[in-house]
Formats: sequence, C-alpha cells, structure tokens
Amino acid sequence: MKKILITGGGGYAGTLLTDYLLKRNYKVVIYDSFLYGNYHKKRKNLNLIKKDITDNKSFHKACKNIDIVLHLACISNDPTFDLKPGLSKKINYDCFESLVKSAKENGVQRFIYCSTSSVYGISKKKNIKEDHPLKPITDYNKYKGMCEPILFKYSDENFTTVVARPATLCGYSPRCRLDLTVNILTNHAYHNKEILIFGGNQKDQI
Ligand SMILES: NC(=O)c1ccc[n+]([C@@H]2O[C@H](COP(=O)([O-])OP(=O)(O)OC[C@H]3O[C@@H](n4cnc5c(N)ncnc54)[C@H](O)[C@@H]3O)[C@@H](O)[C@H]2O)c1
Repeated sequence: MKKILITGGGGYAGTLLTDYLLKRNYKVVIYDSFLYGNYHKKRKNLNLIKKDITDNKSFHKACKNIDIVLHLACISNDPTFDLKPGLSKKINYDCFESLVKSAKENGVQRFIYCSTSSVYGISKKKNIKEDHPLKPITDYNKYKGMCEPILFKYSDENFTTVVARPATLCGYSPRCRLDLTVNILTNHAYHNKEILIFGGNQKDQI
C-alpha cells in the first residue's frame, strides 16, 4: 500500500483527489494549512497535518515513511497572489527547494509538482506543447514555472521527479473555487442570467 503525502490536499483539487486515491487503496497524508477550511471527513487511511509548507522542520518530519509527495499547496490565483506578493512568493517559490530536499532526504521515491498551463502566457501558436517557451504574464505564473527546473535538479534513479501543467479545472468540489473560468461563468449565468466574455465585444445573453 503506497503512502502519498499531498500538500494542499485540503484545496479544490486536493479534496477530490484524496477521495480518488483512498478508493484506490493509497494511504493519504494531507499537509495543509487549510486556509479555506477543512472539508475532509475522518476516514480510514487518511491523516491530516495542519501545518504550513514554509515550516520546513514540520514538513521534513511529515515526509518520514512517505513513498510519493504530490505538491499542490500554493496561493493559487493572480488576485490572491497580488494581495501580499512577498508572502505569496515565500509560499509558492522560496520554500520549494527545501520541500524537495526534505522529501529526497527522507527516501521519498517520487515527487510530483503541480505547475500550471498558464506558464505559457498568451501565444498565437496552435497546438502548444511542453517545449513552447515559457512567457508568464503574472508573478503567480512566473514563480510556478521557476520551481520546475529546481525540482529536476534533484532527479536521480531513486528519486523520480514529475511536473504537470494542468489547464484550468471546472466543476464541483466540497472546497469549491468560483474564481475559475467555467465556474465563474456558470455562477454569472445562473445568478445574473448573463455572462461577460472578456477580450471581445460580445455580451452574450443566456
Ligand atoms: N484549479 C485549477 O484550475 C488549476 C489549474 C492549474 C494548476 N493548478 C494548480 O493546482 C494546485 C491546486 O490548485 P487548487 O485549485 O486546488 O487550489 P486551492 O487554492 O483550492 O488549494 C490550495 C491549497 O493549498 C493550501 N495552502 C496554501 N498555502 C499554504 C501554505 N503556506 N502551507 C500549507 N498549505 C497551504 C490551501 O490551504 C489550500 O488548501 C495549485 O498548485 C495550482 O497552482 C490548479
């Protein structure tokens, strides 16, 4: 039975991912400061650690006997990042290398880092692939991208490093995010009976 530690496992994606992994017989440890509350019920094979990822001593201890680290925790959108840029950088970038080192020193075999597709910025090219140059347009995007090469520095035969660059998610999660594109459009369509499309001159009535 593999033991996976998820930083940010209390967030929009992490809450659902935890259910998915528990159903597939993983032991899950969630390491999260639960900024937006905790939507997890007590379950077998689930352990919650309410700590900050900038607290390296606690994170180092949490990595004992862990097989896989999945790193989701961060300040996860532009407006929130910009509220306190110094603190956001500390969380999203400054502490990243220490997290990787702690995992590796504890014998973790695989470190998966959740970056974002927004590292590509805006491009006119079609079919963008991972070799497209990174042209981040916000600090949130920039620091997400800057963590990627740091992780790869630590790769070796005993420590597999993986970076995912997911597109924007949508849909329901117990910790729901209504700032995400499709979710915010759905919210406006339902409550205001109209959605605004930015970047063009259209105002579509529903
Ligand atoms: N949701 C998306 O559409 C999307 C798209 C691309 C990439 N991502 C990436 O996926 C990951 C998860 O996104 P999400 O939508 O679930 O975000 P979220 O904001 O819902 O979850 C982030 C979690 O990290 C925790 N956290 C924040 N700062 C922390 C700290 N200092 N210490 C410990 N925990 C802390 C929060 O409490 C929260 O539970 C992020 O890395 C994000 O950049 C998300």
